[in-house]
Amino acid sequence: MCGIVGYVGLQSPQNFLIDGLEKLEYRGYDSAGVAVVNEGEIKIRKAVGPIVNLRKVIGDEDLGGRVGIGHTRWATHGGVTVTNAHPHFNSDKTIAVVHNGTVENYIELKAKLQAEGVEFISDTDTEVACMLIAEHFKKLGDLKAAMDAATKEMEGTFVLVAVAADQPDKLVAYRRNAPLIAAKGKNFNFVASDFSAILKHTKDVFLIENGDTVVLTKDAIEIFDEDDKPVKRELMHIGWDVDAADKGDYEHFMLKEIHEQPKGIQETLSRSLTEDDRIKLYGIDMTAEQLNSYNKIIIVACGTAYHAGLVGQYFIEKIAGIPVQIDVASEFRYRRQFIDEKTLFIAVSQSGETADTLEALREAKKQGAHILSIVNVVGSSVARESDEVFYTWAGPEISVASTKAYTTQLLCLYMLALYFADLKGTIEPDDYADYVAQLKRIPSQIEEILKKEQDIERLAYDYYDRDQVFFIGRGLDSSVAFEGSLKLKEVSYIPSFAIAAGEMKHGTIALMEPRTIVIALATQDAIFDKTVSNIQEIKARNAHIISIAKEGNTSIVNHSNEVIYIPECRDELTPLLTVVPLQLYAYFVAKDRHCEIDKPRNLAKSVTVE
Ligand code: G6P
Repeated sequence: MCGIVGYVGLQSPQNFLIDGLEKLEYRGYDSAGVAVVNEGEIKIRKAVGPIVNLRKVIGDEDLGGRVGIGHTRWATHGGVTVTNAHPHFNSDKTIAVVHNGTVENYIELKAKLQAEGVEFISDTDTEVACMLIAEHFKKLGDLKAAMDAATKEMEGTFVLVAVAADQPDKLVAYRRNAPLIAAKGKNFNFVASDFSAILKHTKDVFLIENGDTVVLTKDAIEIFDEDDKPVKRELMHIGWDVDAADKGDYEHFMLKEIHEQPKGIQETLSRSLTEDDRIKLYGIDMTAEQLNSYNKIIIVACGTAYHAGLVGQYFIEKIAGIPVQIDVASEFRYRRQFIDEKTLFIAVSQSGETADTLEALREAKKQGAHILSIVNVVGSSVARESDEVFYTWAGPEISVASTKAYTTQLLCLYMLALYFADLKGTIEPDDYADYVAQLKRIPSQIEEILKKEQDIERLAYDYYDRDQVFFIGRGLDSSVAFEGSLKLKEVSYIPSFAIAAGEMKHGTIALMEPRTIVIALATQDAIFDKTVSNIQEIKARNAHIISIAKEGNTSIVNHSNEVIYIPECRDELTPLLTVVPLQLYAYFVAKDRHCEIDKPRNLAKSVTVE
């Protein structure tokens, strides 16, 4: 999704802007641009494609100035062209604007401006926002006042950042339900979509709230709330290391992040366990009485986070005995929901900025639900708008295809379920202790699987040219099948389907033929025989079966062409392990097919539009 960086300081902004945009590249984009205010003039340079194209357009030119804004665009309104790329100008090129999000009433606003004689050159809603700010600026003569007046007329969710040719020492930013931070340095200040753009220069960050307008000069960050009152916002010191957003010796972030899973799980575990191995969730403080007052839980998330939620649903219901409904966030708001103060709503999100998840959360909150979120990005919108937050400590996830966020989300959901079960008294002490002991073994068990990387690479190489791949499993295995399939299609573009194994015979089995690859997850001891029957039905159609099973399961060999083993663990915890070979498989297949692994086509890391 679009990324924004703005700089005001003592130096020429262009390198700060372009470096910052490179750090935001992971969000996904298709064009980029910068605008710099210099001696009463605004210079804009833009290019379609990767940031290196923007670097080429600028070449050796020094754009000068002390104030600038930069943008990576992920096309929503209008195709991928230089004209549609940001920043956008007003008619006499005295105002430039970058924008993230959507101005929902831009058609009406555009018609009104056109009726007043304003001419447009792009298809974007951003140009409309720019023209509107410029019209107000003409009347009011002040950039902040113009931003405030213009945003009052706009509907939607967005961040806007504007500079004016005759105001060479400041920029003005506005936030409404899209991510924005302001970062404080010595003789310089930044605004940006997220921390990664500025970490190299400063780690002191203000979290900008909805409705805030920010006026940034080199010495000051002034923040005004929606009533135009000056306000102080929380100043956070970011603990992340700059290297965390670096590939190191790995060829891709995806592979690095797959390998970081033991560390992320270890970190999340150690922050949530007391010395005597009791689960204590930092950020969550619930009494048994409060928990008992909820008659249901609703989990809402998108993409990979949704797949983690599926496992959470199963485990919470199983051990805490609370009914759990789960929904993809984009569907949640458009169905009748039965929510009141007896509902516990759990949002799961890596970025904490996914528009669908945020809107679902707001709706649930409006209807009285208590909001708990599982989030990776500290201070993100989902985290800020929740009553309680349980952070995943995966560290920054850069690859668009999520890996370490998924396994840490799973871990949080397992711990939450155990915490609930303990509070409700639905779990025996020995069973609780056994689950905790097994969770503590997960990091080293993932290390064991990672040692098989070369075997999985070989397997991927043997079948990377297939036209379709199916993932099947029963119970928890089917939840992981969905995630394995998503990973493969995201990074390798091979059409891939996941289906509950028992459902195959009701239609999908018609697609089986000798070149079809079926990855069969068979880790659930309790329903193993049933899974084997389903595998047999497929094998009889000559499809090629790659099974994933627990170590020691020798019978699976008779039903499979290949087997990948995971270490022995309780059935309920296998998702933490089975997903790892699937992530590696997707990665190596994509590599063999020469795909852009960390930034797959058409995808964005943080989807801030609905
Ligand atoms: C995008 C990403 C996915 C991610 C989903 C939800 O589609 O490409 O990897 O799972 O958004 O994102 P969230 O940040 O809310 O977990």
